[in-house]
Amino acid sequence: MSVDDVHLTLTDVGHRWGTGPALFQDISLELHRGDVVALTGPSGSGKSTLLSIVAGWLPPTTGTVERHGIRRIHWVFQNPHGQPRRSTRDHVAYPFLVRGARRREADRRADETLGRFGLADKAERAFFELSGGEAQRLMLARAAATAPDLLLVDEPTAQLDRASARTVNGVLAGLAEAGAIVLVASHDADTIRACDRAVDLRVAA
Ligand SMILES: Nc1ncnc2c1ncn2[C@@H]1O[C@H](COP(=O)(O)OP(=O)(O)O)[C@@H](O)[C@H]1O
Ligand SMILES: [Mg+2]
Repeated sequence: MSVDDVHLTLTDVGHRWGTGPALFQDISLELHRGDVVALTGPSGSGKSTLLSIVAGWLPPTTGTVERHGIRRIHWVFQNPHGQPRRSTRDHVAYPFLVRGARRREADRRADETLGRFGLADKAERAFFELSGGEAQRLMLARAAATAPDLLLVDEPTAQLDRASARTVNGVLAGLAEAGAIVLVASHDADTIRACDRAVDLRVAA
C-alpha cells in the first residue's frame, strides 16, 4: 500500500457511555493526509471521546471507523510535558534520531522544524524556561517531527492566556505539512478558524 492511501472514514458514528444519553450520533467523515479538522462543542460534548474512537482506543456504540494505512498515532494534550532540563532542540531532534538520523542531521531537521513553529530563537533554551505558549508550540513541533499518520490534538489552548493562545493558533495550519490527518478538539473560536473545517458535536447530539 502506498503512503498516499492514508485515510480514515467514519460512517454514522455515535457514542453513549453505559445507559447515558447519546453524546453524538451519525457522524460521517472522510479524512485524508494534510487535512486539519476541528472538533468543536462545549465541555462535555464528547470531543475527547471522539478522539479516542478515532484513535481506535474505544469502539463507538454505533457506526464504523475504518483506518487505512495509519501506523503512527501521536497525541498532543492541553498540558505541555517535556524534560525540564533538556533543550528545545533536543525535544525535536529525538524523533529524528529514533528514526535513524545521525546527530547532526537530526539537529538540522529539528532547527528547521522549530523555525516553522516560531521557535527558531529558543533552540538552546531548556524546556522549563519556555512560556506556556512556547511549550505548547514545542509539543506541536515535536508532534510534526514524529511524522505521524494521525495527529490528535486535544484542547491545545485551554491552559493559555489569549496572547499565548494566538501564537499556538498561528502554527496549527502548518501541521498540514506534517503530512498527517490532524484532528484538533477545541472550543476556542480562533483555534477552530485556524483549521480547514470544523465538525460541531452539538449539531450531532
Ligand atoms: N470513561 C468514561 N466513562 C463514562 N463517562 C465518560 C467517560 N469519559 C467521558 N465520559 C463522559 O462523557 C461526556 C463527554 O466527555 P468528553 O469526551 O471528555 O467531552 P469533552 O472532551 O468535549 O469535554 C462527559 O459527560 C464525561 O463525563
Ligand atoms: Mg476533552
